Amino acid sequence: MKLARFSRIGFILAAAGSAVGLGNIWKFPYITGENGGGAFVFVYLITVLVIGFTLMIAEMLIGYLGRRDSVTNFEDLAPRDKHLWKYGGFIGLTGLIIMIFYSPVIGWTFHFVLVSLTSLPSSVAIAETNFTEFISIDLGSQVFYHTLVFLFVTTVVARGIKGGIEKLNFILMPILFITIAAMFFYASTLSGFTQAWDFMFAPDWSKLTSASLVTAVGHAFFTLSIGMATILTYSASLPKDSNLVRSSLIVIALDTGIALLAGLTLFTFLYEYGATPSAGPGLVFISLPTVFYEMGFLGNIFGFIFFVALASAGLTSAVSLVEPIIQYLVDRFSFSRLKASMASGLFFYLFGMIAILSISKEYGHYFTIGSMNFFDWADFVTASVMLPLGGLIMAIFVGHVMEKERVAAQLKTQLGAVYPLWYFSIRYIVPIALVVVMLNLVGIIEL
Ligand code: TRP
Repeated sequence: MKLARFSRIGFILAAAGSAVGLGNIWKFPYITGENGGGAFVFVYLITVLVIGFTLMIAEMLIGYLGRRDSVTNFEDLAPRDKHLWKYGGFIGLTGLIIMIFYSPVIGWTFHFVLVSLTSLPSSVAIAETNFTEFISIDLGSQVFYHTLVFLFVTTVVARGIKGGIEKLNFILMPILFITIAAMFFYASTLSGFTQAWDFMFAPDWSKLTSASLVTAVGHAFFTLSIGMATILTYSASLPKDSNLVRSSLIVIALDTGIALLAGLTLFTFLYEYGATPSAGPGLVFISLPTVFYEMGFLGNIFGFIFFVALASAGLTSAVSLVEPIIQYLVDRFSFSRLKASMASGLFFYLFGMIAILSISKEYGHYFTIGSMNFFDWADFVTASVMLPLGGLIMAIFVGHVMEKERVAAQLKTQLGAVYPLWYFSIRYIVPIALVVVMLNLVGIIEL
């Protein structure tokens, strides 16, 4: 089946929309806080450049040359053992599993859009109680918001690449850019800004642990949307004669830029109002609402636009998480887009319910395996195992399986003098780094 194509700018916005998500605004600041700041940011930036950049180009290449869904692309581009390599395409399933926890978290951001307008907490203690009660007791609201996310995402993807995904990004991405830039400019006038700057950019190497390294690599994948065929699937709809290298660089620059601006803004607010940066996952949902309360009326406005921006960032990523499977169902099984969208939507909707139950006080113990509940498992298995694994499969495929000449024909001119370095990196550096990270995870290697 022929796919509708993105426009050039539409592709950049959609790929950036995928990359810039809850990972940038919710996760990046708090893991930076937990891992001591500057040194972690430094390692993360290096990882993004060395592993992220190399792999994003590889992933784009598979999509761009194959032009079909991820499974078919692996099959078509493998010079031999096609029936085996096609299974590489199933890394697209990771997206549906990410959605199991991603959709409920987008739901939380909807809730906080309302909280910002009506009932900001007056102290950290109150904020903490509110948030904990919301996620562990208030099942009704969570299911309601999760349902909204399901309906929204399914409707958008059912409309296809051009009419749905590209349009959504055309509307939401400018809102996101303007909001983040405006809040950053305001933050840069406050006195807490210097402290925030030092926290993020003055490295204290003693704070860096081996666990931080693994976190940095995992997050580099997650934030750039690589390792599960999102970028691959979008790239199958690139206009002809696209420059993959330039597109990757723009997407990476936007993603990293927004993460850094969001981090600086958040930490400035926290320092300004005396909260701690190492607050963990509750940073955005506990510490920040208290800061908005302290700001008075301005805080209601800021809170509102901040959570609208966060929800927008989440939604443009959510559509990209389900698109690979939809394209597969449409391409290989001749599903209509509507039917494919419903099928993948129902999957994350139902399992998302279980994720919500699994963090609740009343039902949590039914859905807890070992030390983690179902929600945390979905996060851990995808970010720490499946994404690096997907990255490894793609690195080996492009570096060792696809014909050398074919890869070179596409990328040699675009990469210029960097080409040999890139090729070496995709063949050796990236796979070795990923294997080390994964072995470290299961405890075979102690970094
Ligand atoms: N990059 C998004 C974020 O930072 C999440 C995301 C969207 C993603 N699509 C993806 C992560 C594909 C991995 C793979 O929140």
